[in-house]
Amino acid sequence: MASAEFDPVNFKHLQRANWNAISAGWMSCAADFDTGGAPVTAKLLELAGVRPGQRVLDVGTGTGEPALSAAAIVGASGAVTGIDLAPDMISRARDRARGKGNLEFVVGDVESLDFPAASFDAVLSRWGLMFAVDRVEMFRSLARVLVPGGLLAAAVWAGPADVPMMSLGFQVIARRLELPPAPPGAPGPFSMSDPDTVGAELAKAGFGDVEVTVFRVPFVLESPRRFIEFNKVVIPPGLKTMLRERFGSADDPETWAAVGEAVEPYRRPEGTVALPSKALLLRAVAPIG
Ligand SMILES: C[S@@+](CC[C@H](N)C(=O)[O-])C[C@H]1O[C@@H](n2cnc3c(N)ncnc32)[C@H](O)[C@@H]1O
Repeated sequence: MASAEFDPVNFKHLQRANWNAISAGWMSCAADFDTGGAPVTAKLLELAGVRPGQRVLDVGTGTGEPALSAAAIVGASGAVTGIDLAPDMISRARDRARGKGNLEFVVGDVESLDFPAASFDAVLSRWGLMFAVDRVEMFRSLARVLVPGGLLAAAVWAGPADVPMMSLGFQVIARRLELPPAPPGAPGPFSMSDPDTVGAELAKAGFGDVEVTVFRVPFVLESPRRFIEFNKVVIPPGLKTMLRERFGSADDPETWAAVGEAVEPYRRPEGTVALPSKALLLRAVAPIG
C-alpha cells in the first residue's frame, strides 16, 4: 500500500485540532497515564537538575506535566512556564495549576518559541517533542531559550513494538480501516525512536554532552476495558469519522473488541493489564558561548 503524502501545514493544523479534541477525554485517563508517567517525570527532573529558584520551560505540556512537578521543586523563588500547541490542553493545565503563583501555561508551538534568548535554566518535555516537523530547528530554538550550559531533559517514545501502551490500539484500528502506512520520517509518536538519529540532531543543533538512555514506563491498567476506554479517548476525530463511515459507528463493537483482545497477552492473572513501554530519555547541554 502506498504511504500518504506529508503536508507540513495541514499536519500542524490537524495536530492542534486533534489535541484540542482529545483534551476533554484525556483528563478521564490522566490518572492512569500520570501514574505510569510519574517515574519518567521524576527522572526528567533529576536529569535536568531542577532545583529551587530556577526558571523552567515545559514544552508540549498537555494537561500540565512535568510543569506541575517542576513548580513544586523550584518554589516561590523560581518560575515554570508550560507551553502547548492546543489551547484546550492549556486551559485544562491552568485548571490544575490554580492557586500556584510560580506557574503559568501559555499556548505556543515548540517550533516557533518567542521567548527572549537565555530565558530558562532548564527545558523539560514529556512526550511533547515528537510532533515537530523540523527537529533540528526545534532543538536550535530550545538551545536559544536556554542559558548557556542550561539543560534539556526530554522523554520520547521508542519504536511501536516496544510501546504497547501507545501502539496496540492504533495498530488494530489502522488494520480495520486499511490505513496506508505513515510516510517515512513523518512526525508522530514514534518519530524520535532512533537514539542515534536523535543524538545527531541534538548535536547538529549545537547541544553538547548528549546522552540518550532507555527507561521502561510501568503502565498498568485495571482491565482490558480500561485500555479500550483509553484508546477511545486518544484516537483523533478523523479516525472516529472513518470508523463511522466504514462500520456505521465510531463505537463499532467488533473494532473495540479487537482492541481489547490485543492486550490479552499482557493480562496478568488477577486481571490487570501491564503494558511496560520503552521511552528514550534525552539529556543535553545548551552551547556555552
Ligand atoms: C502525548 S501529549 C503529552 C502531554 C504531557 N506532556 C504529558 O506527558 O501528559 C503531547 C502534547 O504535545 C502537544 N504538541 C504537539 N505538537 C506540539 C508543538 N508543535 N508545540 C507544542 N506542543 C505540541 C500536544 O498538543 C499534546 O498536548
